[in-house]
Amino acid sequence: MRIIVIGAQGQVGWELTRRALALGHNVLAWDQAELDITDAAAVDQALNASNADTVINAAAYTAVDKAEQEPEQAFAVNRDGPAHLAAACTRLNLPLLHISTDYVYDGAKTSPYVEDDPTAPMGVYGASKLAGDEAVRLLCPRHLILRVSWVFGVHGHNFVKTILRLAREREALRVVADQHGCPTFAGDIADALLELAGRIAEIDARAAWGTYHYCGHPATTWHGFASAIVEMAREQEPLPVNTVTAITTADYPTPAARPANSVLDCSRLARNFGIQPRPWQEGLKQVLSSNS
Ligand SMILES: NC(=O)c1ccc[n+]([C@@H]2O[C@H](COP(=O)([O-])OP(=O)(O)OC[C@H]3O[C@@H](n4cnc5c(N)ncnc54)[C@H](OP(=O)(O)O)[C@@H]3O)[C@@H](O)[C@H]2O)c1
Repeated sequence: MRIIVIGAQGQVGWELTRRALALGHNVLAWDQAELDITDAAAVDQALNASNADTVINAAAYTAVDKAEQEPEQAFAVNRDGPAHLAAACTRLNLPLLHISTDYVYDGAKTSPYVEDDPTAPMGVYGASKLAGDEAVRLLCPRHLILRVSWVFGVHGHNFVKTILRLAREREALRVVADQHGCPTFAGDIADALLELAGRIAEIDARAAWGTYHYCGHPATTWHGFASAIVEMAREQEPLPVNTVTAITTADYPTPAARPANSVLDCSRLARNFGIQPRPWQEGLKQVLSSNS
């Protein structure tokens, strides 16, 4: 298969590129320098000339707090970019695999979110991603939107790397314990997307296009995740940190509000494709052993 990976230097894009190459695919790995998805003409031109079979969009504006100050930029990348890709894919009859976020939900639900639950983003990032999802649905019938949460990987910035750095510097950490969600390894997201990309004919035949949730399990809190990171890292190196204290969201105000519950129910993906996410601890082990 000839696959375009957009946002190839991001956490998920990087995993997509190396895993697609390892599977023997012909990969066009583009980051912002090769293709700025906010530029409609550039998107058209690049896709026209690509001779690709499938497009996977892992590019996004992902700075959740900064987005509150830069809504135009967030919407340009997260809404307009996917809209340009979706329109170009439809013109060329290419399937578009796109990634969305748990932050499209407001967290008021007390059980895991299913794909048909109402969306109500709490901040600019979530609103811009939701607008991107809507554009993809409207403009490209042959789309899959994989809605993922709390992404961490070997490559790029993420919560695991931040906690690891702090655990090497400090004796005490304070981490929010009243936001519930599911950490998800970028490599697992890449594997799921590549499996779906390999089943396009089946998805066409079964008209199985649409939105699917995908996240690691079990659900935890940022405090639970941080505690697991410290515990696992300590098996590999001595760390000065001796306490990880649970605090509330109110104790740690941020520019963007975040959902108290963004646990995703992934049963639709399992039912339709037999794709089952792994425990996030397995991905965490891989990230920590990569010496990041
Ligand atoms: N990170 C999370 O916790 C999380 C949670 C839920 C969902 N998601 C979603 O998962 C997907 C992948 O996220 P990620 O964590 O892998 O993101 P990431 O590491 O921030 O990577 C995003 C990539 O997109 C590139 N990019 C930004 N603007 C672009 C543009 N205009 N044109 C082309 N490329 C552009 C970035 O390049 P620069 O670095 O040069 O800007 C970066 O390489 C995104 O759709 C994100 O919304 C992420």
